[in-house]
Parts: sequence; structure tokens; C-alpha cells
Amino acid sequence: MLRPSQEAGDNHEQVAADLDRRLGRLPTLEARLHVVAQLAPGPIAFSTSLGLEDQAILHAIAAEGAKVDVFTLDTGRHFPETIDTLARTEQRYGLRIRVVTPEAADVESLVARDGIMGFRLSIEARKACCEVRKVRPLRRALAGAGSWITGLRRDQSAGRSHIRFAAVDCEHRVVKISPLADWSLNRLEAFIAANEVPINPLYAQGFPSIGCQPCTRATSPGEDVRAGRWWWETQDGKECGLHANPRRPVRGTAA
Ligand code: ADX
Ligand code: SF4
Repeated sequence: MLRPSQEAGDNHEQVAADLDRRLGRLPTLEARLHVVAQLAPGPIAFSTSLGLEDQAILHAIAAEGAKVDVFTLDTGRHFPETIDTLARTEQRYGLRIRVVTPEAADVESLVARDGIMGFRLSIEARKACCEVRKVRPLRRALAGAGSWITGLRRDQSAGRSHIRFAAVDCEHRVVKISPLADWSLNRLEAFIAANEVPINPLYAQGFPSIGCQPCTRATSPGEDVRAGRWWWETQDGKECGLHANPRRPVRGTAA
């Protein structure tokens, strides 16, 4: 006999597979968000970094009037321009973006141990900082959610080249949805220009991918779009842990 959590997992697998098929066939972002709002398990949460992808998705969510919990992870180390973009976005769309912060005690212990710039010491120290400032707050932000919308695109990096439109994320126990999975950067920029979507002014200053200030630099023409993220590390697997193991099945992890 199936345990309830296992049944929920199976159901999520079916819904994710159905959404994955449908989203790939829909031509517009608005149509995709419409279907997500109708079919994705609720409550639906959307994590925005205020990056280009997320601004386009937020525009479509607002256009569709979709009932979505929009949140951002404020690591405490963002560029002032990112915070300003948050304020301008709330004003433009007339909505409130939930700001999720790390636990103060976690940050205090981390900084006491590694120092205020401790993430430069080693990859382990950098991952520890991302864990405290991003990964744990994400877990908290997604607690109780049925679906999680992100702005991941396949052509952002080799590690993201297999991202599906919808798949079960067993770690957070949600259906993870990436409505821009198949979009190119050109298509994204055209959407933003056509809809006059507000964007972070740092894009115009040579920052094609924007994370925390001390871990992001501008890139030169011809460099990889993510070359400016954690630039002192090797190019392979530069992820902060928000998007680990996207394709593990949910079933084996049922509590
Ligand atoms: S990261 O893992 O390298 O930092 P990236 O900047 O490419 O991620 O963003 C990919 C997706 O992760 C975004 O579309 C968004 O859904 C989520 N994300 C990244 N950073 C944040 C943040 N600070 N707050 C909320 N969501 C975020
Ligand atoms: Fe810490 Fe840098 Fe990760 Fe931000 S990107 S959480 S500052 S290590």
C-alpha cells in the first residue's frame, strides 16, 4: 500500500510530465504562465533574483494576473543596483516581492569563523556562504509550496543544458518549473525591449549574469555569460547550490 507522501510524489511526477509536454508546445511566455497557473500544484512560488529572465517571468505573471508568491533571497551582499531594481519593479507592477533573509545567527557564526570575505578562502568556504545566505533561506521560502518557478535557461551553461520545463524537485518536494528553458538570450532581450520590462542597470555596464556583489564581476566581449560569477573558481560546475540535483526522482525520498 502506498504511503500518502508517496502518492503525492507520484501525482507530482504525473503533473510535472504533463506540464513539461504542454509548456514546450506553447509559443508565448504569457501562455506558458497561464497554463502553469491552471495546472501546477499550488501554492505556486516564484524565486526572482531580479535578473533578466526573472523580470520577463514577473512581467508575464503580472500580465496573466497569476496567483503566485513572488520572493527574492536577499543575501545581504547584493549590489545597490539590484535592490533599486527590486523597488522599481514593485512600483511598475504594483505588487510586493517577499524579501527572504538569512538567519542572523547563521550569518554571525559564518562570519565569525571565516571572516567577512571568507568565501574567497576556498570553494568549501564559498559554498558555506551560499548555503547560509541562499540555500537555507530558499528551503524556508519554499516550505509548503507545491510548485517553484525559476528563470533557468538551457543555454546559460553546459550544466543547465538539460533543464526541463517542469520536473519534480525531490529536495524541495515541489514541481520545479522553468518556463524559459528553451529561450535564447536574444529572444529574452527582445521580449524585454518589446515590453519595456525594467532591468538592472548593471546589464548595460558589462554584467551579463548578476549575483552577489563580491562574487560577480563584469565580463569582456566574447567571455562566457557566467564567467563573471565566482570568477576565481574553475569554470566547471559554478553553482551556488540553489539548483542542485534538479532531476532526482521524488519517490525514494518520501518521508
Ligand atoms: S545562481 O544559482 O547562479 O545564483 P542564477 O543567477 O543563474 O542562479 O539564477 C537562476 C535562477 O535562480 C533565477 O531565475 C531564480 O529563480 C533563482 N535565483 C538566483 N538567485 C536568486 C535570489 N537571490 N533570489 C531568488 N531567486 C534566485
Ligand atoms: Fe556568499 Fe558570494 Fe554565495 Fe553571495 S554568491 S552567498 S556572497 S559566496
